Amino acid sequence: MKELSRLLGSVPGSVTMAVNDKAKALQAAGKDVIALAGGDPDFDTPEHIIQAAFAAIEDGATHYPPTKGTPAALEAIANKTARENGIQVDAKTQILITPGAKWAIYLALAAITNPGDEIIYLEPVWVSYPPMITLAGGTPVPVSLSPADNFTVTAEQLRAHVTPNTKAIMVNSPCNPTGRVLTEAEVQAVVEVATENDLFVIADEIYEHLIFDGRSNISIASLPGMAERTITVNGLSKAYAMTGWRLGWLVASPDIIKLAGKLSSQTVSSAATFTMAATAAALNGPQDCVADMRDAYQKRRDFMVKALNEIEGVHCRSIEGAFYLFPSFPGSSKNSLELADALLDKAGIAGTPGIGFGAAGEGHVRFSIATAMSDLEKAVERLAKVAHEL
Ligand SMILES: Cc1ncc(COP(=O)(O)O)c(C=O)c1O
Repeated sequence: MKELSRLLGSVPGSVTMAVNDKAKALQAAGKDVIALAGGDPDFDTPEHIIQAAFAAIEDGATHYPPTKGTPAALEAIANKTARENGIQVDAKTQILITPGAKWAIYLALAAITNPGDEIIYLEPVWVSYPPMITLAGGTPVPVSLSPADNFTVTAEQLRAHVTPNTKAIMVNSPCNPTGRVLTEAEVQAVVEVATENDLFVIADEIYEHLIFDGRSNISIASLPGMAERTITVNGLSKAYAMTGWRLGWLVASPDIIKLAGKLSSQTVSSAATFTMAATAAALNGPQDCVADMRDAYQKRRDFMVKALNEIEGVHCRSIEGAFYLFPSFPGSSKNSLELADALLDKAGIAGTPGIGFGAAGEGHVRFSIATAMSDLEKAVERLAKVAHEL
């Protein structure tokens, strides 16, 4: 047999998916496993959005849509982007609807990357960024952030990683897995370094609505001079509990959207037609469903952070947004893979090992709180019993 793809062979599979698969196999074998490894809200998609999709299917939205998206969905995204993010965009030329935000991130990278280009990202990082950079032909360059200062990023740290080959900085705020929301000063650091080095910024705002304690999201593209160089990625998965609908988008300059659209149309064609009707319903409809889910996540955070810190041998920073906790286990000699294994074997808790989020994530395990409160309570009880064995 001829050799298979070296490029695909060189990138790791998703650690999150691997832990999920292992947890599911244990569950299928009858073991009582609490699944805290994934990023899938336990809430159902709000009813008015489901009804809009049903109605669209019954109205015949079962054919190919325009590859960039239906006019109604593009208009809804343009209006949302102006209203919520302070970014004025042309619906026809500056938005591309994609099957999930994940594909939007890959398209963004593919549209700007040439072989040898370096793409900077902040670590701990969402598992998929580095492989996606590699697949797009770029070189991943991590900026390692420290839990000692709450994973804060500065302009100096970013500058230290810029070379003549640097093409872009990727940021994700609120961040998966750290739960950090970039402050004004940190956003300014990104803007400063991007501007002085003529870099693109890929701003992944998928968790923008899941921010706690009255904080708010700063959209980098809304800042002076940044619209041209920023690609904003967003979608419905997290805020509207719509992970399975596979609906995301990118907002960028017309040149970038044209290239991204070319790749999308030659590969996946488009997102599904009826999900675009659901998109318009989600973005144009009542938003209290989003606030209600955010409030529930905040309550779970409050409970979990307190309860975890009461367990000897567990340290958990509070989080500012998204729905993941990233506790560490000071005193344990195990690495994060061993810790995640021990948690699964001894306590039936599936968490994601921190190393999956890069070297800066070592020593941590990520727990999703997009999980029913009863399961979170059970997880804390079980963890308290085994913590001394970790
Ligand atoms: C940081 C981040 N960006 C993007 C995505 C992708 O979202 P989607 O389900 O829309 O592809 C996720 C999903 O877990 C994520 O955590």
